Amino acid sequence: MKKVFRVLGFLVLAVILLVAAGAAFIQFRGVPTYEPKDFKITVKPDSTRLARGEHLVTLICADCHRGEGNKLSGKHMVDVPAMFGYVHSGNITRDKTHGAGRYSDGELIHFLRTGIKRDGSYSYVMTGFPRLSDEDIFSIVAYLRSDAPQLDPVAQSNPPCRPTFFTKFLTNTVFKPFPYPEKPIVAPPVTDKVAYGRYLVHGGVDCYNCHSANFASNNAFEPEKSKGYLAGGNILIDPTDLREIPSANLTPHPEHGIGKWTEAEFAEAVRFGKRRGGGSLSAAMPKFTVMTDEEISAIYAFLRTVPATDNAVARVK
Ligand code: HEC
Ligand code: HEC
Repeated sequence: MKKVFRVLGFLVLAVILLVAAGAAFIQFRGVPTYEPKDFKITVKPDSTRLARGEHLVTLICADCHRGEGNKLSGKHMVDVPAMFGYVHSGNITRDKTHGAGRYSDGELIHFLRTGIKRDGSYSYVMTGFPRLSDEDIFSIVAYLRSDAPQLDPVAQSNPPCRPTFFTKFLTNTVFKPFPYPEKPIVAPPVTDKVAYGRYLVHGGVDCYNCHSANFASNNAFEPEKSKGYLAGGNILIDPTDLREIPSANLTPHPEHGIGKWTEAEFAEAVRFGKRRGGGSLSAAMPKFTVMTDEEISAIYAFLRTVPATDNAVARVK
């Protein structure tokens, strides 16, 4: 018997030592780095791309990147939960030393797809856009080079993100850069409402990411397989008062989802943060003010087709 205890004791000690060594390794190694790529490619800035790029950057990127004086010079993202550490978004103005101006078109494309920055570091908060169409990516790059006032060079170098041990642990285990797409990605035609709505919900504006159960259990490649897909409950932080706000159930469930919502009510919520029946939604739900009628209508049509999930999310007033 004594012998058994002694063996057990050694085993427990060995496990403790292994865990401690693993933790020390992760703490010391930090967030892993990867190989950056610079494709030899120059994106042609025609007027269609510039207009599309302006729309996409305003719709998708500006909320996270708008800093002082309405320039996209980056900001401290107070709404990232504290367990991930201090997060500051990047300077994406045309500045050639501090901004996106220092990236080549090829480096930008590689980063926007994978989340690997030009210095090889991995951007674990802005994890890349693996499902946006090639044409939409080109439009974003074309626009970032344009003389739009919000991109005027700002000579500001931002403080680096400071990952917690938890973030380091995640990036050493489950959070990895997206592989660069093997085939060209083409968006469905706008006229195919449901398919286009799906493209926006999964690929562009990423509604599914906040509106499924948890960022950690989302499936980036097959969003439908995410836990609690579009049924809400993911805890977000309101950037104005730092309260925890669960995301809403967007499935067509009549009681707990948006089954009874009209398209007009939906549009008011998505564009202006208006709560159905009066009042305002929390600022944890971004206001997609520039979203077009066509986009709203496509997203609404698509959300009507997903399975109605009976998930009652607690509402915080
Ligand atoms: C959820 C918030 C969020 C969204 C949305 C977002 N970004 Fe970012 N972005 C960040 C953060 C945070 C960083 C800094 C990452 C780091 O330093 O690890 C960053 C970094 C970057 C960088 C790298 C900057 C550098 O100095 O290396 C570029 C370029 C960039 N973003 C462009 C974009 C574009 C273009 C879009 C829209 C298509 C976009 N971002 C959308 C949060 C976001
Ligand atoms: C950054 C995370 C985030 C993103 C991205 C996001 N939402 Fe939300 N959304 C929320 C949160 C959190 C709430 C709950 C707000 C509240 O209860 O006050 C919410 C609420 C809503 C509501 C109100 C539902 C209700 O029952 O009151 C609608 C509609 C909505 N979102 C649609 C969308 C659509 C469509 C998209 C994509 C275009 C989207 N959201 C993207 C976080 C997000």
